[in-house]
Amino acid sequence: MIKPHGSESLDPRIVSADRAQQLLAEAESLPSLLLNSAAAANAVMLGAGYFNPLKGYMNLADALSVSASLHTEDGLFWPVPVLNMVEDISAIEGASRIALRDPNTQGNPIMAVMDVAAIEKVTDEQITQMAQQIFATTDSEHPGVATFTNLGRFIVSGDIEVLNLSYFQADFPDTFRTAVEIRNEIAERGWNKVVAFQTRNPMHRAHEELCRMAMERLDADGVVIHMLLGKLKPGDIPASVRDNCIRKMVDLYFPENSVMVTGYGFDMLYAGPREAVLHAVFRQNMGATHLIVGRDHAGVGDYYGAFDAQTIFDDKVPEGALEIEIFNADHTAFSKKLGRVVMMNEAEDHSKEDFILLSGTKVRQMLGEGIAPPPEFSRPEVAQILMDYYQIQND
Ligand code: ADX
Repeated sequence: MIKPHGSESLDPRIVSADRAQQLLAEAESLPSLLLNSAAAANAVMLGAGYFNPLKGYMNLADALSVSASLHTEDGLFWPVPVLNMVEDISAIEGASRIALRDPNTQGNPIMAVMDVAAIEKVTDEQITQMAQQIFATTDSEHPGVATFTNLGRFIVSGDIEVLNLSYFQADFPDTFRTAVEIRNEIAERGWNKVVAFQTRNPMHRAHEELCRMAMERLDADGVVIHMLLGKLKPGDIPASVRDNCIRKMVDLYFPENSVMVTGYGFDMLYAGPREAVLHAVFRQNMGATHLIVGRDHAGVGDYYGAFDAQTIFDDKVPEGALEIEIFNADHTAFSKKLGRVVMMNEAEDHSKEDFILLSGTKVRQMLGEGIAPPPEFSRPEVAQILMDYYQIQND
């Protein structure tokens, strides 16, 4: 099986039940810090093994280095800083060991215990510089920039032991998986060539066909649909609804045992190309040999070129830095001439009018009005789930 990133075997930061009990007892006498959602999401990813070989939160030097050059000071390839940024450090000043509380679960239970290596002040200039490098913009209208620049001006770094994976296992028992669990399931199924599909949307025909094309062209054993279950920007569709759509589509339109429907607990960064590379890192950790990267992967608005998330792998990822390979896909749409979904650059003698193209805004508007998008764009069964969701929203 493909090796994890940066080490021979996966070293998730989640601890055993016994160790969790010990840590909980210890935590009673430790100073504690209420994490922000971004830091909590990092803890879940570290706990679940997706951020292997990191053992905790980065310090300022690593954050600056990763932002500038996609490498930590020690030379580990890593595309986006993994940080615990804090606004108010009064509760933990001077402490060497602290408990981290979950902002996303009622009662804010302890989710991790941390060895504090350093508490460092980060300047506004450093934040702006990192935002520019990570998101390719400092525009505060960009949802990722808006979040990143408002997380606080202290960086609390150090290794963590994770006690629980927040609300994801309870809320998505059938879908949330750790990297360890996905690796195990891939091994059990006897899959060798495994395609990962990143998504934060209900899957429309283009998404579905991308998975099918990748499977066929790579002669893969299976696809792991790996959906984001963490936080999104307002207006995006909630994870439970997307999960239902995806399961319906897989049940009806894919052969049995060819697709695993899974999810991970991370907030969307909207960092386009940089996030695509992070996606590749954690899909390698879960055992995928290929990651599909299509049009405007992890993008938002017009901040990135449609295929910047593909070219970054040629421009910024050194040879050998990752073992996972990228399956690049062109803009994919239904061709009225050919009667099937195709990559547009492979459809000869086509003009724009020959494709069924609908913007996200248009699709949302239609669904909100109870109008199903054409079946060439959305499977009717998927459209129905979405219309039901919008119906409840509108009531
Ligand atoms: S993402 O933010 O998670 O990338 P989304 O769930 O819409 O958004 O996309 C999942 C994957 O499908 C990404 O790799 C994206 O580039 C690709 N994709 C989505 N729609 C298309 C399309 N029409 N043509 C080509 N690729 C697409």
